[in-house]
Amino acid sequence: MSATAKKTKSIPAASGIPFVGNTLEMAKDPAAFFVRCYRDYGPVYQVNVFGRKQYVIAGAEAAKFMSTRAGREGLRSKEFWQDFIDHYGASKSLTQVDGDVHRQMRQVMRRGFSREAVVGRYHELADIADRSIADRWKIGDSVPVVESFQYMIVQMIGEIMTGDAPLEYVKDIRTNILFLLNVLVTRQRPKFFLKSPKFKKASARMDELGRQMIIDFKAHAEKGTLPDNLLGDVMQAHIDHPDLIEERDLALILTGPYVAGLDTVANTIAACTYGILKTPGVLEKVQAEADALYAKDTVVEADIRGLDYIQGCIKEAMRLWPIAVAQMRTTTKEIEFEGFTIPEGEMIFIGTSVPHFMEEYFPNPLQFDPERYHEDRREHMCPGAYSPFGRGPHTCLGQNLAEVLMGTIMSRLFHRLDLSLDPPGYVLKTKSAPTPGPAMSFEVKITGERRPAKALIAEILEDE
Ligand code: HEM
Repeated sequence: MSATAKKTKSIPAASGIPFVGNTLEMAKDPAAFFVRCYRDYGPVYQVNVFGRKQYVIAGAEAAKFMSTRAGREGLRSKEFWQDFIDHYGASKSLTQVDGDVHRQMRQVMRRGFSREAVVGRYHELADIADRSIADRWKIGDSVPVVESFQYMIVQMIGEIMTGDAPLEYVKDIRTNILFLLNVLVTRQRPKFFLKSPKFKKASARMDELGRQMIIDFKAHAEKGTLPDNLLGDVMQAHIDHPDLIEERDLALILTGPYVAGLDTVANTIAACTYGILKTPGVLEKVQAEADALYAKDTVVEADIRGLDYIQGCIKEAMRLWPIAVAQMRTTTKEIEFEGFTIPEGEMIFIGTSVPHFMEEYFPNPLQFDPERYHEDRREHMCPGAYSPFGRGPHTCLGQNLAEVLMGTIMSRLFHRLDLSLDPPGYVLKTKSAPTPGPAMSFEVKITGERRPAKALIAEILEDE
């Protein structure tokens, strides 16, 4: 077959409403929208969002494609992040670069974003969770779940990755992320939103936080006391390779863990809390596993990773409420996929979460069933079926760290407190912007304390 003949297979356009196209359907429930189109049109189709035509490749084949050579070389993320980078006056970010520079930047940040960052510190994580519970999860109260987790996460990320928890900046960090991702990355809101006083104030505060972090770390660098964490590694790389980690990129990199970790983790564990409380028979198993864990005096990484049932609940939350329904890229060259040709320079969504909702991979897919991941079922191991952390070169650098943070928080929360949905028959409302997940209005009632906050004893590491 000639090259021209191959290109004749035409790409279907998803049906939509006149003028609006697919914008509303996609905004309402992006995961369901991509699944609907996959069922109607197959693995390649075009959508019309905000008047722009964009290509979609979806399903398990698309997920697998991202890690192939053709996927690695044929897709880049530059365009989606460029406005965000420009807003900071930066030259680049990890999420926006590809190829060699991307590999080098990942290398600099790998250790700081890995689960090594919390080795020997599970007693501190439990303590942070307890302090956050004391502040925001008071007995008798109805608690806004996403927001309360956001505070807990900022405290954890701050103390673990940067040595400081800028709690007074949580609201500014949240507002900043909300506006910038909505307007500049996912483009679900128009640019004039950035002129709002609310955003301007949050943006100025975020700049202040970034500047202060740079001042602090420069002082450390001069004294030779760079901390043993992500920021220490970044500052060292800035000193050793100023062309790779440039001065004008520091503020963005130093506040990056909050952008990457705040909404992702808070949304996922909020969804997980809902799944646990909503699904008959799950809560009791979670509590039993959590109680067995904290019967120990010292908790180590293997204990958290070994929380089979709770980790299954977290995996279910990421399957049913994925924070990255699709990855957004631009084609760097013409790409061939499943017999279709997508031209160079086109915006493309890769619908990696579509198989999460398919009976073919996950029987009874809408059922919250933490036992899917057990040794005897392992439904997520079917190639391309399960991609909560993305696929390909930009796959989540904080995956392992996120898993242990979420395992610690979920186990500690359900060990410590009795919670119930509020009202009891509540059905989860979701939001799609900027990151898909439970609505901010989702609340649980704290009906009692199950166990007191008993401090853990620090793990003794071999080289101590
Ligand atoms: C439930 C928790 C999380 C989920 C589901 C998640 C998911 C993802 C996904 C899907 C991507 C890829 C986006 C793309 O390809 O366009 C990504 C990238 C990334 N994530 Fe996460 N993430 C989570 C938590 C975290 C945390 C806690 C951190 C660190 C604090 C983190 C750090 C990163 C970084 C640095 C990248 C960019 C990697 C690159 O561009 O090379 N993530 N994450």
